[in-house]
Amino acid sequence: MIDTVGRVLFTEEQIIKRARELGREIAEDYNGEPIYMVCTLRGAVVWMADMMKNIPNDVEIDFIMASSYGSGTISSGSVNIKKDLEGDISGKNVLIIEDIVDTGITLSHLKKHLEKKGPKSVKICTLLDKPSRRIADVKADYTGFSIDNLFVIGYGLDYDQKYRNLPYISYIEG
Ligand code: IMP
Ligand code: MG
Repeated sequence: MIDTVGRVLFTEEQIIKRARELGREIAEDYNGEPIYMVCTLRGAVVWMADMMKNIPNDVEIDFIMASSYGSGTISSGSVNIKKDLEGDISGKNVLIIEDIVDTGITLSHLKKHLEKKGPKSVKICTLLDKPSRRIADVKADYTGFSIDNLFVIGYGLDYDQKYRNLPYISYIEG
């Protein structure tokens, strides 16, 4: 089957400009304190690279992978940690870097999972937000762009593992 890719929603230039703005905001909010950046695999890697370059604080990076099952059902509450952090976050300022908050189910589980490890704080920075799809009570502290209910691809985001390498954000027409 051939996918129909829509128009460009956000160019690389727009995304990098937004990363710079959010980086400045984050630097101000954390007041020079070190930040432990946690990238959610795999979708957030491209956004992580942009964000980390724009945060002047002392930064450590780590990676976590969660997978949710039963997507499509309202009760898809089970989220499984497939790859946990390598480092110790106790007493640290954790900043989760996410690709997109859709229902919010994955992120709310992830946030609770990280909070159990005794960090000083846990905040969320997402490239994209689809607020109209929210089920779980979770809100990003820093959002690149809010979008309508589209299935977006590119800049790390996939459709069946494809399109992660597009240097812009587009969507699948369906
Ligand atoms: P959740 O519904 O907020 O738990 O979303 C979980 C994950 O699904 C996100 O972190 C993305 O990796 C993926 N996802 C949700 N919406 C989209 C989309 O429009 N395009 C690509 N991936 C998506
Ligand atoms: Mg994700």
